[in-house]
Amino acid sequence: MGRVYNFSAGPAVLPEEVLKEAASEMLDYKGTGMSVMEMSHRSKAFEEIIQTAEQDLRDLMGIPDNYKVLFLQGGASQQFAMIPMNLMKNRVADYIVTGQWAKKAAKEAEKYGKVNRIASSEDKTFSYIPDCSDLPVSEDADYVYICENNTIYGTKFKELPNTKGKTLVADVSSCFLSEPVEVEKYGVIYGGVQKNIGPAGVVIVIIREDLITEEVLPGTPTMLTYKTHADAASLYNTPPAYGIYICGKVFKWLKSMGGLAVMKERNEKKAKLLYDFLDQSKLFKGTVEKKDRSLMNVPFVTGNKDLDAKFVKEAKAAGLENLKGHRTVGGMRASIYNAMPYEGVEALVAFMKNFEKENL
Ligand SMILES: Cc1ncc(COP(=O)(O)O)c(C=O)c1O
Repeated sequence: MGRVYNFSAGPAVLPEEVLKEAASEMLDYKGTGMSVMEMSHRSKAFEEIIQTAEQDLRDLMGIPDNYKVLFLQGGASQQFAMIPMNLMKNRVADYIVTGQWAKKAAKEAEKYGKVNRIASSEDKTFSYIPDCSDLPVSEDADYVYICENNTIYGTKFKELPNTKGKTLVADVSSCFLSEPVEVEKYGVIYGGVQKNIGPAGVVIVIIREDLITEEVLPGTPTMLTYKTHADAASLYNTPPAYGIYICGKVFKWLKSMGGLAVMKERNEKKAKLLYDFLDQSKLFKGTVEKKDRSLMNVPFVTGNKDLDAKFVKEAKAAGLENLKGHRTVGGMRASIYNAMPYEGVEALVAFMKNFEKENL
C-alpha cells in the first residue's frame, strides 16, 4: 500500500522528502557508520545537528538574540506545570480559556497559585475566540496564558490579546511554523512538535532570557527548571536526539519552501478550498465562527452521527485517513498542517462532493 492522505491532528503528516532523506541516512549518517539514534548526544555529529536545527529555527522565526530556544521532553502537557513553576513569582496568572488544552493548563497552574480565568468561550463549545482587546488583566499577574490555535475546536487567535504589559505565554503546538510570528510579542512560545514539525517526544520552548531565573517555586525539580536546560544548551541530559534530528530536517525543508510567509500563503490556499466548499455545502457544515477559523484544523459535521461515521469509514477506504473528530466533539476534523499537500485537500473536497451527492 502506498502513502495515504493523513488528516490526523497529531502525530501528523510529515514532508515526504524529509522521511525519504531520513530513511537514506538510517544505517549510516554522513559516514559515521551509525544512525542518529545510535550516536552519543555529546558527539560532534550530534552537536552539529542540534546547533544547525536551532539556527535554522531562529532564521525561520526571526528569533531575537535575547530569547533561548530549548529542545525538551514531556510533551506540551509538561509545560502546563513547568510554566507556573518557573514564572509564577507572585503566584498569580491569568488564563484565557478557548478549549480543552487551555483548560487543562489552567487547572494544572492552580496547583501552584491563583488562576484567574479572564475570558472563555466555553459558553458556545469553544467555537469562537473571545474579544481580548480589553480584558480585566490582573495587576499582579505573572503572565497571561493562551492556546493560540485550538486543535480540537479549530479556532485560532488572529490577533494576540492585549495583555496590558504582562508577559504573554502561548501554546502554539498546532500552529507552529504555519505562518510568520512576531516573537517579541511573547515571553514564552512553546509547542509539542508532533503536529507541524516532527515526531512526538520533542517540545520546543522559545523563552525570553529575563524569564529564565533560579527563583523558581520551591520543590521545582531540576529537570523542570528552564535554567537547567538553558545553561546546558538543551544537553543537560540525553535529549530526544532522533526527534531533534527530524525537526532539523523539517526546518531545512521549510527554508527550501521559502520560509514562513510562503507557508502562510500555501496554508491559506489549502484552507480556503475546504472552507469555501463547506460554506456552500448542503450536507456539511463548519462548526467555527468564520472570523476565528484555524488554517490548520478544520472541524465539520453533517448533523447526523450515523452519517458522520459512514463518512469517516468511506473516506478511510478511499485513502483519506484520520478524519474522525476529537472524541469530546464528534463529527469530523481535517488537520491540514504544513506537510499536507494541496492535492490532499483537493482529494478530500472531491470525496466530500461525491458523498454529498450520494447521501443528501
Ligand atoms: C494545542 C495543544 N496543546 C497541548 C497538547 C498536548 O500535547 P502533548 O500530547 O504533547 O502533551 C495538544 C495535543 O495533543 C495540543 O493540540
